[in-house]
Amino acid sequence: MVSTRAMGAAGPRVFSGVQPTGHLTLGNYLGAMRRWAEVDQHRGDAVFCVVDLHALTVEHDPARVRRLSRQAATLMLAVGLDPQRCTVFVQSHVDEHARLSYLMECTATDGEMRRMIQYREKAARVTARGGSVRLSLLTYPALMAADILAYGTQEVPVGADQAQHVELARDLAVRFNQRYGPTFVVPKATLPGVAARVMDLQDPTSKMGKSEQTRAAGIVYLLDEPDVVRKKVLRAVTDGGSAVAYEPAERPGVANLLSVLAACTGGDPEGLAGSYGSYGALKEDTAEAVVEVLRPVRERHAALAADTGYVDGVLRDGAERARSMARPRVDAAYRAVGLLA
Ligand code: TYM
Repeated sequence: MVSTRAMGAAGPRVFSGVQPTGHLTLGNYLGAMRRWAEVDQHRGDAVFCVVDLHALTVEHDPARVRRLSRQAATLMLAVGLDPQRCTVFVQSHVDEHARLSYLMECTATDGEMRRMIQYREKAARVTARGGSVRLSLLTYPALMAADILAYGTQEVPVGADQAQHVELARDLAVRFNQRYGPTFVVPKATLPGVAARVMDLQDPTSKMGKSEQTRAAGIVYLLDEPDVVRKKVLRAVTDGGSAVAYEPAERPGVANLLSVLAACTGGDPEGLAGSYGSYGALKEDTAEAVVEVLRPVRERHAALAADTGYVDGVLRDGAERARSMARPRVDAAYRAVGLLA
């Protein structure tokens, strides 16, 4: 078993990432990024990545991917990731991801890939628009498994929508180790207690996703101005009836607002439901809570975006550190499968 711990921290090796396919959302923040900054980087040896190769699995504009990658990296620092404590880098700067992805494709099966819910949903959307589904959309979870396994990752802090992909990474690690000898640590997903799946404010039966251009009214972006955030939350679709109760199946709109409010204020959604007599008051408080949570992120982003040299430097150092963490394990995997590495 290879075990290189570049930063030498005592806690678990944590890895997570975000795709630069659109502007980052409140879902990204509450589901994943906030914990990276508040918890994960302080507990152990954490690695966070802008997974730009994943953004090529759907039709994309090169200039936009470039812009969004820089913005995602800047936002990772703006939410509080400290490059002195953790490693922040861009996936395509470290060849080990693509190298290991191929071995993961040789470990996974076609059926496994086709069962992935996200593949089925995204492929259906592409087809409905008359587009063609890229092969990389199908093999995406192999690359994601490579991202995770290259670093000897123990914990993967993600929102609920990524749990199935992390499960697959677990299965692939176990299978590879059984076939070729112990090479990979078997990772597990860690989900937030509340807001593991923030829903679209206009369609609370769908996830709040960053790439849904057509539904921008239901998506709170991290860089939305406070007035825009207020407007979006106040116009959130609520459900029939008027009593405020936390019933995700029957009242998804209200349950979503309660979850967001709970995540922003540290309460619990069921407990909060009892303190509201009307949807209006719930929306007002949720809007203010979201504005306050995002305020420091927007402010820090503005300061960091003005200093591109700093962000570039962080990403350069991060890539170097990431490369030295990943390389020995990926080399070991190449040798284990019989390549003359
Ligand atoms: P992505 O870019 O879609 O989302 C980044 C993180 O945000 C979480 N998230 C949400 N959480 C709660 N509610 C939502 N509405 C919501 N939307 C997004 C996601 O669960 C994720 O944690 N495949 C991944 C990126 C990735 C990755 C990895 C993650 C690639 N390789 C390795 C972890 C480890 C993705 O598309 O995330």
